[in-house]
Amino acid sequence: MAQPRVYYERDADLTCFNGKTVAVIGFGSQGQAQAMNLRDSGIDVILGLPSSHSRRKARQAGFKAYSTARATAMGDIISFLFPDQKHQEVFETDIAPNLSSGKTLMFAHGLSVHFKLVQPPGSNDVVMIAPHAPGTLMRKRFVEGKGVACFLAVYSDYTGQARSTALAYAKAIGCTRSAVFETTFEDEAIGDIFGEQAALCGGLSELLESAFETLVLGGLSPWNAYLECVQQLDLIAELIKKDGISGMFDRISRAAEYGSYSIKGRIVNDRSRRAMLSILDDIKRGKFVKKMMKDYYGGSSDYHRKKKKQSEHPINQVGVAVRSKILD
Ligand SMILES: NC(=O)c1ccc[n+]([C@@H]2O[C@H](COP(=O)([O-])OP(=O)(O)OC[C@H]3O[C@@H](n4cnc5c(N)ncnc54)[C@H](OP(=O)(O)O)[C@@H]3O)[C@@H](O)[C@H]2O)c1
Repeated sequence: MAQPRVYYERDADLTCFNGKTVAVIGFGSQGQAQAMNLRDSGIDVILGLPSSHSRRKARQAGFKAYSTARATAMGDIISFLFPDQKHQEVFETDIAPNLSSGKTLMFAHGLSVHFKLVQPPGSNDVVMIAPHAPGTLMRKRFVEGKGVACFLAVYSDYTGQARSTALAYAKAIGCTRSAVFETTFEDEAIGDIFGEQAALCGGLSELLESAFETLVLGGLSPWNAYLECVQQLDLIAELIKKDGISGMFDRISRAAEYGSYSIKGRIVNDRSRRAMLSILDDIKRGKFVKKMMKDYYGGSSDYHRKKKKQSEHPINQVGVAVRSKILD
């Protein structure tokens, strides 16, 4: 099995940031965590933000905050840490006109570059450090002296220093304390979008909702259904994360293990595998990103309708009630 290149602390050197400024654009989940970690690693950080409200928030956290256009002009490394659907308009309006050659464009996800929403000029390094965790967890682990793993990719190496810059950035935000896996913008973009749709977010939530609905239809109380099918998910996820899928099966009861083997193919089968291939095909051919951007530019009505529908599912109400009774 081919293995990716993996980097750790000894592979990265922070001195390549000497005399350089990182302009972090966005102060949300990733922006806050990465700006704080970079600052704690001794890097000069400024923020680029669209509104006086968010600039005030960044200033309260001790950062210098400017408009996105000004921060781009002042920074040497421009870190795209704002929502992917906004990359195209912000790049065209605020970033590209203020981008001189030799600066580094840093991404935390490959979507906007791979699907050509952002088309960088040829005279910049374009790299990616994509942490495998939300910002809050990345910041927590950094403060504890640990880190989270990430993907690294180089899309364009104008200066010949693109990989070193990306590795130094990964070190400054704590990722080399865990593991930095090398990939490409294309593989990260497609893998991440597919993984969240088919497995981790879309697939999993639909599976949980369906199992919950089935138990309620079968006469169990919604409380029981939620406690059995949803609330214990973290325990199983933890076992899989620590020891893999076989390791998880080794640690659960014989009934749980044998039952799981016995129903194989009844829920996930050739039909669902064909559906997965068709979802992957939509992603690869850019159909999903095109649809998402069309909805975004059209006012996000489809997004808001789908979000409202999900929020009205009874599983959410039951979840609030169940969690309110559990002390921990
Ligand atoms: N969240 C994750 O767990 C995660 C994990 C790995 C990678 N990523 C990637 O990290 C990137 C950032 O994601 P995120 O979840 O951290 O985003 P986010 O929390 O939704 O970003 C919100 C921030 O972006 C700012 N922003 C909004 N519009 C802007 C504009 N026009 N110009 C400049 N800043 C603007 C917001 O400012 P206002 O408050 O003023 O609107 C806010 O500070 C994405 O590429 C994402 O795919 C995310």
